[in-house]
Amino acid sequence: MPVVDVHSHYVPRGWPDLAGIAGGDGWPMIRVDSVSEATIMLGDKEFRRITDACWNADRRLADMAADGVDVQVVSPTPVFFSYGRSPRQAADVAALFNDLALDITAEQPDRLMPFCQVPLQDADLACAELDRSIANGHRGVEIGNHVGDADLDSDGVVTFLHHCADRGVPVFVHPWDMPQSPRLDRWMGQWLVGMPAETHLSVLALVLSGAFDRLPESLRLAFAHGGGSFAFWAGRADNAWHQRRDVVGADSEHPPSAYISRFSVDSVVFSDAALRLLVDVLGAEQVMMGSDYPYPFGERPAGDVVRRATLEDSDREALLGGNALRFLGMTGE
Ligand code: CO
Repeated sequence: MPVVDVHSHYVPRGWPDLAGIAGGDGWPMIRVDSVSEATIMLGDKEFRRITDACWNADRRLADMAADGVDVQVVSPTPVFFSYGRSPRQAADVAALFNDLALDITAEQPDRLMPFCQVPLQDADLACAELDRSIANGHRGVEIGNHVGDADLDSDGVVTFLHHCADRGVPVFVHPWDMPQSPRLDRWMGQWLVGMPAETHLSVLALVLSGAFDRLPESLRLAFAHGGGSFAFWAGRADNAWHQRRDVVGADSEHPPSAYISRFSVDSVVFSDAALRLLVDVLGAEQVMMGSDYPYPFGERPAGDVVRRATLEDSDREALLGGNALRFLGMTGE
């Protein structure tokens, strides 16, 4: 059984000036600092320092070998999603980055499996870019957990998710574009508090809106970072659904815990107790190894918490690879 890491990111070594391609300004740029180091810039602000692990396939494969990982799902870095731009701009940027991702994964497409990005603010363009990318070799899609003020239950996103289900394409949901405030802007609060809360809200939006009641059960959907706060607070959400059906439970047929089989989560939680909570609440079939490689808030060695956790051997094997093969639609291969 191959060991599969379902949560990693890439950044290309470079890209053309996005203002020249898509128009507008304030686009992410890359500042090359050395052969193996660069910085993603937003205007004149440093967004994130990165290394060649973001773009160098040999470096990635060496790190995977060191960590005992056979397959990496290689997803976009959310700062490039561009959902706040015009649909056409976002479609142009998505196509550019999706093609650059294939350059990174081309030599080992069965070990580095690219997931594409789409202009999620426009369902037609998103479906078209998905189809184009899958035809070119992408194995799934990573989407942000919201489009401005629209959550995953918005008509356009649900249309896109239907399309993914029809095509048998797995969908990985990553938090991004977290709320900013003086309180959340200290100590990386957007990452430490905002991301888990955002992901929790996205799961609840699909449940409480009734979107899961309408979406086909064949949709393969996974949430980053252990599904955020959802597993810990599923009981609170269930209680609220029963106590205030008029408000909380008006649009969904069942309480939140009834929908747990409809999605998976990754293992990027860094603690044995948290991983066991995910397995206890969601079930061992719903948790897949992920690392968030190669970023500082990622896990190295990838899969460490799954390997160390107190789990049945069969569950550990499922978390390390079996569940991911099902998510990726590879069980028949
Ligand atoms: Co990530």
